[in-house]
Amino acid sequence: MIAISVKPLFVAISVFSILLLVALLSPSTPFSSSSSSSLARKVDIWSVKRLVEWRPCKWWLQGHLTALPAKSNGYIRVDCYGGLNQMRRDFCDGVGIARLLNATLVLPKFEVAAYWNESSGFADVFDVDYFIQQMNGFVKVVRELPPEIASKEPFRVDCSKRKGQFDYIESVLPSLLKHEYISITPAMSQRRDRYPKYAKAALCQACYSALRLTRSLEKKASQLLEAIPKPFLSLHLRFEPDMVAYSQCEYSGLSPASMVAIEAARGDRRPWTGELAQVWRKRGKCPLTPNETAFIFRSLSIPRDTNIYLAAGDGLMEIEGLTSLYTNVFSKSELLSSEDFTNMHGNTKAALDYYVSINSDSYVATYFGNMDKMVSAMRAYKGLYKTLFLSRRAFAELTSRGLTGKELMQALWVAHKEDFVMGRGSALPDCFCEFRL
Ligand SMILES: *[C@@H]1O[C@H](CO)[C@@H](O)[C@H](O)[C@H]1NC(C)=O
Ligand SMILES: *[C@@H]1O[C@H](CO)[C@@H](O)[C@H](O)[C@H]1NC(C)=O
Ligand SMILES: *[C@@H]1O[C@H](CO)[C@@H](O)[C@H](O)[C@H]1NC(C)=O
Repeated sequence: MIAISVKPLFVAISVFSILLLVALLSPSTPFSSSSSSSLARKVDIWSVKRLVEWRPCKWWLQGHLTALPAKSNGYIRVDCYGGLNQMRRDFCDGVGIARLLNATLVLPKFEVAAYWNESSGFADVFDVDYFIQQMNGFVKVVRELPPEIASKEPFRVDCSKRKGQFDYIESVLPSLLKHEYISITPAMSQRRDRYPKYAKAALCQACYSALRLTRSLEKKASQLLEAIPKPFLSLHLRFEPDMVAYSQCEYSGLSPASMVAIEAARGDRRPWTGELAQVWRKRGKCPLTPNETAFIFRSLSIPRDTNIYLAAGDGLMEIEGLTSLYTNVFSKSELLSSEDFTNMHGNTKAALDYYVSINSDSYVATYFGNMDKMVSAMRAYKGLYKTLFLSRRAFAELTSRGLTGKELMQALWVAHKEDFVMGRGSALPDCFCEFRL
């Protein structure tokens, strides 16, 4: 009797040990060692075989395609506004434009939005010496203007509102030649695809090879990185009152506190209602709640004991929707000393989130904003491919068709697996080229 009941147990333990060992020794699936996934599926999303990878284009990495012109057409300062990653995006564009116009670049102006309540300039965030050194041969950069120009303010050329096929040579070069020193904020839409390769290479080099955090910021960021249990997933969750208000989406089942916060942030932007709200949601316009995010995570077989770092602002709402399911969730405010945390500015916090996210084992975004684009491209640059953007559109569409439970999970798995396999969204096409695996 005893012998019979012990044996199966012994076998079960042996099998379990072997499975555990295999899981622990398997280098490509650091998250698969967990057995607590609520789904029976054996693999998580990261273990799926990819077909396409985005890698830095050869014409960029292979260096300077055209010698810099002997004579510069003038000096350009790039004026950047908004959050850290938006400023960075505009600055990268500006570097490409400066090279396109055969101009000399001066250090940019980082104008910080009132939202951040601070005054971090470029040099407070990025290592200036490193930048200048890395741009050698790609574009001329000066730290100081020559004295005859230094005393005057640059002539401002406003391109930010231009749309469509804005041609910088046609529209901006004449002002540059006339005034010698201009400032620009790059247009949102432009035909970078028409740039000569040397101008594109300058943009790519500036954005992905030449921007490094200042020594002190990097030190802080690496301390934070060290404090996070490994391996870990960095999650950029966007469910703050301003984000929800801005989206004009309506949610049911939120706590009274969240409703008050959203109302306060709404201003005159009223949410869509009725039929229109449905259409809006199905177009993928509505931020995922932490609860919905957790549901998609489960659909992707991301184990519930995965270490998750919240790369997010301080005002996240309804976070229990995630933490009630995923229990190993960490935030800056827990990991940093409280005096560090309270003294830290918005841009500094954004820089920390950026740093952690380009060094995490995997990165998931619930949105496709400036930070997400920058982080995914930087991860591709570093050869980190466990990057995924959750599809608000797929979620809305599938739920509106009435799918729930297991059926919904399966459909979400298929939708996201497809994206992951094809490397969709994992890098911006400007500087990265498709590579078939
Ligand atoms: C910039 O210089 C290159 C040669 O290095 C030249 O081919 C190009 O026409 C110049 N562009 C402008 C806008 O001056
Ligand atoms: C902005 O910063 C100042 C000084 O550090 C502080 O007194 C003020 O409360 C801050 N405002 C907001 C909205 O955080
Ligand atoms: C969160 O999602 C679960 C399904 O995963 C659902 O049963 C629950 O009601 C949701 N909670 C809220 C507050 O929406």
